[in-house]
Amino acid sequence: MKSMKVGNVWDDALILDVNNVSVSRSGKMILRDIDLRLSKGEFVGLVGPNGSGKSTLLLSILGVLKLHSGAVRIFGEPPMSRRLHGRIGWVSQAASNLPRDIKITVRELVQLGTVNSKNMLELVDRKRRQQVNKAIQMVDLEDVKNTDIGRLSGGQRQRAVIARALASEAELIILDEPLVGIDRESRNSLLKLLDGLCHDEGKTILMVSHDLAAIRQTAHRMIFLEESIRFDGTTEEFPDLVELADLRGIGNVHDEPNSKEVE
Ligand SMILES: Nc1ncnc2c1ncn2[C@@H]1O[C@H](COP(=O)(O)OP(=O)(O)OP(=O)(O)O)[C@@H](O)[C@H]1O
Ligand SMILES: [Mg+2]
Repeated sequence: MKSMKVGNVWDDALILDVNNVSVSRSGKMILRDIDLRLSKGEFVGLVGPNGSGKSTLLLSILGVLKLHSGAVRIFGEPPMSRRLHGRIGWVSQAASNLPRDIKITVRELVQLGTVNSKNMLELVDRKRRQQVNKAIQMVDLEDVKNTDIGRLSGGQRQRAVIARALASEAELIILDEPLVGIDRESRNSLLKLLDGLCHDEGKTILMVSHDLAAIRQTAHRMIFLEESIRFDGTTEEFPDLVELADLRGIGNVHDEPNSKEVE
């Protein structure tokens, strides 16, 4: 493993290191001086108003967007490194909007999560089949595993995409708004599932959500982002809405706290 932190040795418990990162898009600075470290087993909620740069931060971590300055290391490696293959699971913001005309079953979609550069030309072996079955079971889609994804509800499609990330056995799972379009019951079981992955399997999760109540119930740590990180601390310490408005530099125009955008 490459050396980085803690003197000259990369600390194995350090999963992600975002070091002084700034990112601009179309000439406009979207993220400024972001410092963020995730340790193994953490479940971190990333929140912030619309357009505050949450997806931009995730795409920068994944190496999709070019950094203006700073550096990202995942398991000590730069993003997109071949050595990271299969170690990061990604559920995008528009996951449940998969095209409806794709002829691919839930099982096939989830199986794609197990493909890597080493096994892509091989037949699916028993181990991979087990991973796929387990992931489908975890998101409770066994009844529809042979159904084309185009025939599923939005929430079911979202869960299928999450199962794909789970089947990959990724150690770091990054999710952008995975709760959108999911009914309350599935949402709760999904949050429980993600929580269990951190506690029982030592996975590390970074999840963006607008559902502040849901994420506060599950994440151990919360980050509030608006161009820069305005808050990073335990869920218990997460500011209430009036304090958040303060953090964001929003004065009290009337008697009511200005809190709408946060939810
Ligand atoms: N492709 C792009 N080119 C230029 N600017 C972009 C692009 N995509 C997003 N932006 C801008 O970057 C800023 C941050 O967008 P981003 O999608 O990261 O926000 P977000 O916090 O994920 O918002 P949401 O909660 O709505 O998903 C916004 O001002 C947006 O207009
Ligand atoms: Mg977004």
